[in-house]
Amino acid sequence: MAEDQAMLPLNLHEYEAAARAVLPPMAFDYIASGAHDEETVRANRAAFAQWRLLPRMLRGVTEVDISTTVLGQRISMPVLLAPTAFQRQAHPDGELATARAAKAHDTIFAVSTLATTSIEDVAAQAGAWWFQLYVYRDRAIVRELVQRAEAAGASALVVTVDLPRTGRREADERNRFALPPGVVAANFAHLPQREIAKDDAGSALTGYIAAQLDQSLSWKDLEWLAGITKLPIIPKGILAPADARLAFEHGARALIVSNHGGRQLDSAVATLDALPAVAQAAQGRGEIYLDGGIRRGTDVLKALALGARAVLIGRPYVWGLAVGGEAGVSHVLSLLREEIALDLLLCGCAHLSEIDRSFVVPTGPLA
Ligand code: GLV
Repeated sequence: MAEDQAMLPLNLHEYEAAARAVLPPMAFDYIASGAHDEETVRANRAAFAQWRLLPRMLRGVTEVDISTTVLGQRISMPVLLAPTAFQRQAHPDGELATARAAKAHDTIFAVSTLATTSIEDVAAQAGAWWFQLYVYRDRAIVRELVQRAEAAGASALVVTVDLPRTGRREADERNRFALPPGVVAANFAHLPQREIAKDDAGSALTGYIAAQLDQSLSWKDLEWLAGITKLPIIPKGILAPADARLAFEHGARALIVSNHGGRQLDSAVATLDALPAVAQAAQGRGEIYLDGGIRRGTDVLKALALGARAVLIGRPYVWGLAVGGEAGVSHVLSLLREEIALDLLLCGCAHLSEIDRSFVVPTGPLA
């Protein structure tokens, strides 16, 4: 990490460019790429430009507080770290660096099933953390992962529901994506599931997911999961309002509006575009979080105004990790924290709870 503050990236976009400069192209492409034409990757960003903030003036705000709670847990800002796989390909410290930075910032790190550091090792360094679960065909594996996450102190289970198979990420296919030597799915001790084996036909992840995950996953399985754990269940990957209703009917305590960062179904709706209808369908039955395309404090405020309780960032903190390990992740979080605080103040608000639908208007002339 550059010592000289002036050399550090000024914003999250610049972190992407800085990460590109330090990462092997295969790792950069794995993190950056989306499915097919990457329409949804772009749409996630573009959706934020469809809304403008409508700030209020002369409200005498001198101090802002950007802390909030998710599922009753106080966090210092409405930004969580999304589960992302294989972090040791971005930096040797991998998930440990991310866990430490999240802890220093008093926010939650959602640790991936496909972490390259074990649940127990991450937990030893983490503050509050959630565990992201992929449902393997072999339910003994799933039970054991859930038990280990509970025992190690996870406070929620994020269940990814949008990945029966991987979307077709053509960059990974072209690169024959594989993990660097020594980087493995560390949660699987001596099991074959540890190796994401090179696949000459395309991306190693694609073959792994097709072989290991349960494509027949259904709402009933969400109930099964709710039955084997005391942890709150948070489905990740909900876009349709009808699915938001079903999620709460089948035991979800909160949900994440997500299209997997545009990595799954290309042309899927942008998350910010789905959010208002999902929030309405949820009818206050649980908290709604959003990921996909968050790069600025103003993006966070728009998501909150349209119904999210908090947001998750994925790629931006992995860029930070690649550039500077723990310090890089921490700097990404600091940049976002400072932007949110300034933007909230410029909106004329002292607390996030004041940001409601009246603070956003569709881009274009005011009605
Ligand atoms: C894994 O979840 C991925 O999107 O690569």
